[in-house]
Amino acid sequence: MIKLLEDYFLFLTRIFPPEFSKNLTLKLLRLVYNLKLINFFSIKKESTKTKYLVSSLSFKNRIGIAGGLDKNAEFFHIFGSLGFGFVEVGTITLEPQKGNPKPRIFRFFKDKNLVNSLGFNNVGSVKALENIKKLKPMFDGILGVSIGKSKTTKLKNAWQDYIHLMDYFYLDADYLAINISSPNTTNLRDLSSNENIEFLIQKISEKKIQLTNLYKKDTPIFIKLSPDEEELNLEKIIRFSEDYNLDGFICSNTTTDHSYPMSGGMSGSSLKQKALDLQKKVAEIKKDKSFLIASGGVMSADDVQERLRNSADLVQLYSGYIYYGNSLLRDALEISSS
Ligand SMILES: Cc1cc2nc3c(=O)[nH]c(=O)nc-3n(C[C@H](O)[C@H](O)[C@H](O)COP(=O)(O)O)c2cc1C
Repeated sequence: MIKLLEDYFLFLTRIFPPEFSKNLTLKLLRLVYNLKLINFFSIKKESTKTKYLVSSLSFKNRIGIAGGLDKNAEFFHIFGSLGFGFVEVGTITLEPQKGNPKPRIFRFFKDKNLVNSLGFNNVGSVKALENIKKLKPMFDGILGVSIGKSKTTKLKNAWQDYIHLMDYFYLDADYLAINISSPNTTNLRDLSSNENIEFLIQKISEKKIQLTNLYKKDTPIFIKLSPDEEELNLEKIIRFSEDYNLDGFICSNTTTDHSYPMSGGMSGSSLKQKALDLQKKVAEIKKDKSFLIASGGVMSADDVQERLRNSADLVQLYSGYIYYGNSLLRDALEISSS
């Protein structure tokens, strides 16, 4: 019966245009949650009492939701009830943004890929923080908050967006993800270039020290990397991040390296190798003290295992969860705790 209902949810994600389907499915999930029926769908690994320690955080398991599925921090508590160990909400910008014109999500069922050009559509920091404060007491898991620069913020002022966003979310987030790798906000990826990256990381690090002292709380900070990053630059990002005591890396965001006819970042099956290659490079370069969150093309239990074997501490799902739903979560939890 539950399997039938799960299949029905998956069916819903297919019959309507992608963005509409995604919003509808999330709203239906919320209805199920509000009717107190979510436990029928939740995947709990009763047998394990193991906690996974990453930086200063303790995770109930290693499987999470990647940035961009819960843009406005409205559904993370439901993903926690389903069994995910952590959820990264956002990417959130200072002010509300509409994002790019629709259609801006495209599905490729046969290839098991998605292309999106959303451009940080979100309700902005004030409303998102309100949502977090309201829903976090209901959340059994670790909450990551992904932050990014606004579309209208000039590159030279981008660091101020990140600093202000840290002010907003440092206390309520369990960790912060610095998004400098989305391909859908003009200039965003320039932040990781040789001329800009040290300054940005330095500012973020200074702010982190200030907020740690103020709140007596350590909120780990992860940099989300692009799979299209040049190797030399990658080394610099990692070095600066470690020199300034940030906590680790998310490998990776979507890629612009695809042959679909629309612009935007590709995720899903065809991103797998590129994201894994990036992860391996990062694992090779980084020091032991930095942590690694895997993202990109994780479509099966084997993919989860491969990412964990290659030094990932945690693994995030997005496109795989859209295509395979709870059966992927079930397999991922099984393999990652065995
Ligand atoms: C529709 C869509 C929206 C996304 N929005 C964000 C976002 O706002 N912030 C972010 O850091 N990543 C975002 N991503 C990237 C995902 O977090 C993830 O890194 C990427 O999809 C690769 O993982 P996957 O192949 O498992 O989907 C988005 C991806 C998709 C498909």
